[in-house]
Amino acid sequence: MTSADSIYNDLKRRLHDVVPDVELRYKAGIAAEINELKKQRNAVILGHNYMEPALYHSIPDFAGDSLELSRRAAETDKDIIVFCGVRFMAETAKILNPTRTVLLPARRAGCSLADGITADDVRSLKQKYPGVPVVSYVNTNADVKAESDIICTSGNASRVVETLKTETVIFLPDEYLARNVAKETGRHIIFPSKGVPRTMDASLEYAMIGWTARCEVHEKFTVDDIKAVRKQFPDVVILAHPECSPEVVAASDFSGSTGAMIKYVEKTKAPRYLLLTECSMGDNIAAAQPEKEMLRMCSVRCPHMNEITLEDTLEALKKTQYVIEIPDEIRLRARKALDRMLAVN
Ligand code: 13P
Ligand code: SF4
Repeated sequence: MTSADSIYNDLKRRLHDVVPDVELRYKAGIAAEINELKKQRNAVILGHNYMEPALYHSIPDFAGDSLELSRRAAETDKDIIVFCGVRFMAETAKILNPTRTVLLPARRAGCSLADGITADDVRSLKQKYPGVPVVSYVNTNADVKAESDIICTSGNASRVVETLKTETVIFLPDEYLARNVAKETGRHIIFPSKGVPRTMDASLEYAMIGWTARCEVHEKFTVDDIKAVRKQFPDVVILAHPECSPEVVAASDFSGSTGAMIKYVEKTKAPRYLLLTECSMGDNIAAAQPEKEMLRMCSVRCPHMNEITLEDTLEALKKTQYVIEIPDEIRLRARKALDRMLAVN
């Protein structure tokens, strides 16, 4: 049996309900070429949980959430890291393991959160609130990380904030994640960029200072969605990513990183579950846990994650593209902030 045949059989077993057969055959052929080239080029492929199902189940050496993949990137001794995820993730890999060649298969696979704040914005906030530590979500560009004291992911945000042991923190750039973390860590929150009166801005009695960027995928889920599903299926267990609004998180049964959601579904004895997150991840979990009933309300695909295809990943390995470069001056400062996060874990 060729390696394309064996990948096809495996994909067919997992994904026959989700992906048409002809597409599986075609994609198995590309995946086999990628896996061969990966060996020849001494490369490792890291795949985020939001990768499309055929890619997710065929080529990554490691799949996971942002935190897990950061750790894998930092540890690898392979010459090339191919990052099947979005730009800020590939940048994080380069910052943590700068002697490796890091490739992002699509020229521009961005993120609405990373696009929602600039390094100048962070510098202005630091001027306005001198001495207040800056916690930045990993979904930020490298120059924003370089202006930050410590990074967090959805898997450790509250823990990172708590380890700082300061009265006030600046938490950037996701409004909803900030609100969720403020609630979990018992802090008040203000948003200077929303035009809060000046007298309030200067005060440090507020324990968290946020920003107003949002994830264009997770902001779409509403409490009404949850009510409608619970009405029809009262025994459903609902899982929400912490980039959803605090109201949606409060109306759900569990909130955690993509990796934590996967573990929750693996363990739950609930008869059925609903995921409030990016829809490819739903397909990936459903394929891994066929005996559990997943309710499919979700149709929100992240357009940035969707840029990463098997075809482009093959091209990336053939042509060594697109290489992630970060100027040393930014990389070294961003590295300090990331190392502080990894030390917390
Ligand atoms: P995770 O770190 O939970 O995988 O989240 C990354 C992300 O971009 C979610 O939208
Ligand atoms: Fe960014 Fe949202 Fe896409 Fe995650 S799902 S990469 S936060 S836009």
